[in-house]
Amino acid sequence: MKNIFFDSIAMRRSIYTLGSTLPVSKDEVTRTVQEAVRLTPSAFNSQSARAVILYGDESKKLWKIVLESLLKIVPVQQASDTKANIASFAAGAGTVLVFEDMSIIEGLQKAYPLYKDNFPLWSSHSTGMVQFAIWTALATSKVGSSLQHYSNLIEDEVKKTWDLPSSWSLIVQMPFGSIESPAEEKSFQPIEERVLVKG
Ligand SMILES: Cc1cc2nc3c(=O)[nH]c(=O)nc-3n(C[C@H](O)[C@H](O)[C@H](O)COP(=O)(O)O)c2cc1C
Repeated sequence: MKNIFFDSIAMRRSIYTLGSTLPVSKDEVTRTVQEAVRLTPSAFNSQSARAVILYGDESKKLWKIVLESLLKIVPVQQASDTKANIASFAAGAGTVLVFEDMSIIEGLQKAYPLYKDNFPLWSSHSTGMVQFAIWTALATSKVGSSLQHYSNLIEDEVKKTWDLPSSWSLIVQMPFGSIESPAEEKSFQPIEERVLVKG
């Protein structure tokens, strides 16, 4: 089946060997992230997603914060693996930080008490969509990326370092850059077991 949407989705993989030379301009990367954030749907069109794009030394600063936080908690024998892992993210051209603005979620909870418990859940659905859109859109420009979760360790330091609003909740870190090695082969479960057809 020919469908350019699926061609794009298939290009998105977790790329762990990143380089710092982007195949497109920095402006194009910025516009790609902007469009992904702008066009992704959100519950009640709340548009609660926020993103910060860190390029070059700013991105390296982020991974230094992550490494310093990790080295305080990982066993000593894991320190060198941890350093190598974080160095691979720092080797990229930049990092996209994805947030949800919780003041918007709280505003919706007040405005629509009937759905109070649903808004945080929908916020979490919505940020997943944003992440997927950014990841896929970058991939279509041949910019490799992956999804990383160090938010609980670094959120306060990140907000302090880049002077971000306290209501922004840090969700993921997406290191990006040139694709220096392709992703590994990926296996798929039989689709008939996952998608049932009735009628
Ligand atoms: C919700 C979610 C959370 C993930 N968290 C991480 C993560 O913390 N670190 C990581 O390296 N990859 C993470 N991944 C990437 C998955 O491991 C990866 O997408 C999966 O193995 C399929 O490989 P692919 O991305 O190359 O298609 C995450 C993916 C999803 C969808």
